[in-house]
Amino acid sequence: MASKSSNARLNAWVTQWAAILQPENVYWCDGSQNEYDQLCRELVKSGTFTKLDDAKRPNSFWAHSDPGDVARVEDRTFICSTNKIDAGPNNNWREPNEMRTEMRTLYTGAMRGRTLYVVPFSMGPLGSPIAHIGVQLTDSAYVAVSMRIMTRMGQGALDALGNNDWVQCLHSVGAPLVNGAKDSPWPCNPDNKYIVHFPETREIMSYGSGYGGNALLGKKCFALRIASVMARDDGWLAEHMLILKLTNPKGEFKYIAAAFPSACGKTNLAMLVPTIKGWKAETIGDDICWMKFGKDGQLYAINPEAGFFGVAPGTGYDTNANAMHTLNANCIFTNTALTSDGDVWWEGMSDTKPARATDWHNNAWTPESETLAAHPNARFTAPASQCPSIAPEWQDPSGVPISAILFGGRRRVTQAFDWDHGVFLGSIMASETTAAAGGAVGKLRFDPMAMLPFCGYNMADYFAHWLSLGAKTSAAKLPQIFFVNWFRRDNDGRFLWPGYGENSRVLKWVFERLTGNASADKTAIGFLPAANSLDVSGLNIGTAELEAITSLDAAGWRDAVPQIREHYAIFGDRLPAKLHDSLNSLESALA
Ligand code: GTP
Ligand code: SPV
Ligand code: MN
Repeated sequence: MASKSSNARLNAWVTQWAAILQPENVYWCDGSQNEYDQLCRELVKSGTFTKLDDAKRPNSFWAHSDPGDVARVEDRTFICSTNKIDAGPNNNWREPNEMRTEMRTLYTGAMRGRTLYVVPFSMGPLGSPIAHIGVQLTDSAYVAVSMRIMTRMGQGALDALGNNDWVQCLHSVGAPLVNGAKDSPWPCNPDNKYIVHFPETREIMSYGSGYGGNALLGKKCFALRIASVMARDDGWLAEHMLILKLTNPKGEFKYIAAAFPSACGKTNLAMLVPTIKGWKAETIGDDICWMKFGKDGQLYAINPEAGFFGVAPGTGYDTNANAMHTLNANCIFTNTALTSDGDVWWEGMSDTKPARATDWHNNAWTPESETLAAHPNARFTAPASQCPSIAPEWQDPSGVPISAILFGGRRRVTQAFDWDHGVFLGSIMASETTAAAGGAVGKLRFDPMAMLPFCGYNMADYFAHWLSLGAKTSAAKLPQIFFVNWFRRDNDGRFLWPGYGENSRVLKWVFERLTGNASADKTAIGFLPAANSLDVSGLNIGTAELEAITSLDAAGWRDAVPQIREHYAIFGDRLPAKLHDSLNSLESALA
């Protein structure tokens, strides 16, 4: 166990909250392997973890959650800025003092019968000038071990913190153990969840959930919602983006960041195996990207995380071999199925289904069962260092220079005219909702920059912040902005584009646009790949499909203009005038 910190304010904060939360013990995490192993053994004892067969998947565990606690809860996520307008129409707002009182009531005695784990962590490599430190108080050992995989957790983070301030992260599963009650395998409070952010004081308060994005507070709560506010204040970007390194056959390489909404292909693109000869893709990050301007005026990015919390279903050797290899050991699997021989399985992992398994509800399952073996939002928690495609520089404290930013929605491949136009295209991104959040799946909504659920302030101001960054450096130094979409379907519902490794063909076009080696046609919406400029050699794709992917759907865009106007109207006069101008230009170009 780590000793108490030398940071007197941190010690006082822990003592003060321990008095309110009333845990049985207080334990400071040091982040060591011994500690991790010990906590995992305790999780096996309490029934949260089942140890997988060591011969198949060493040092790995299976957990299944409460069915009421399987995803993020956007309707229970709150941004408590002093003024409602600063949270914006994109967030649920509550008056901060009222919310503090409410949370304090919930937290009073919330940890009775449990251990309070003090979890210091760094988002970003220890000591990186782009990194930031948080400390999470939690009563969940599952959260503590997950934080060790997902962040730089423990004594190193405490040392890096020194006497500075940290992002205060409070978390309780909201299930005190009183009068010797027996613990449940997945303690939570499914009907009373709160994911609360105080952006002005950089505080997070989470209650009632043990699920990833609700409970691992370094991730969405800190690295996106709080960090987006820090980034606005200090002139940088905290984004829902993967980061990859792409190398062409000549050995030239570029770093590309890409924003797709939850469960829309970031992890897969970050780890893709190119199907075109001589090209190489390497992984820097799969979910979150922090970018700051370097002295040379370019944007440098770090992956603030140390692990992957990825969607399991659909992940197999044929779709994402690098992820599969990453999962060989030292992982946690949540809401997948458990096979009868002590391994995990999920839909899409293999064509052959296990003959017998335990499904994510902890019920017996066979291929004849009519229900899914794994929850659609089943997730793996895996150390990034185990990924075969991880780039050697993935932990470089100074970050990597970003040459291109991709936005993904249901639109075809397009290169924006310039930064401002790219911001415009990002602001009108739309995508179908997925199982990563509670609520309906498959509902089309605007999800600007894939940040709708993660922007910690008024999105109109967020667009203005993006536009202002474009004016901070010369146009040549700004990343080029592109639009991609792997998920378009034909009228029969089949995917038009094969996706996965074949996405390397689009990456190649992007790369060659950056180096001036690919041609494009200027259209109303941006630059589209010119005929034959997209490398489809060896790919079995019809001319009609290819045409559909690379030409302007003017009618579709004309239909979209009124919807975009409605989307913009929600932000009222906070919306930057430049975006209205871009929309007007698009409308006249389409006429
Ligand atoms: P979050 O972790 O929720 O932010 O998601 P993500 O954006 O990292 O999504 P991920 O890569 O995990 O993909 C989610 C689902 O989409 C998985 O089931 C994938 O198999 C599937 N998928 C990913 N890439 C493609 C693609 O290129 N084409 C198709 N058709 N499906 C894909
Ligand atoms: C997402 O929902 O975008 C995720 C998973 O990456 S979670 O960390 O749970 O938010
Ligand atoms: Mn995500």
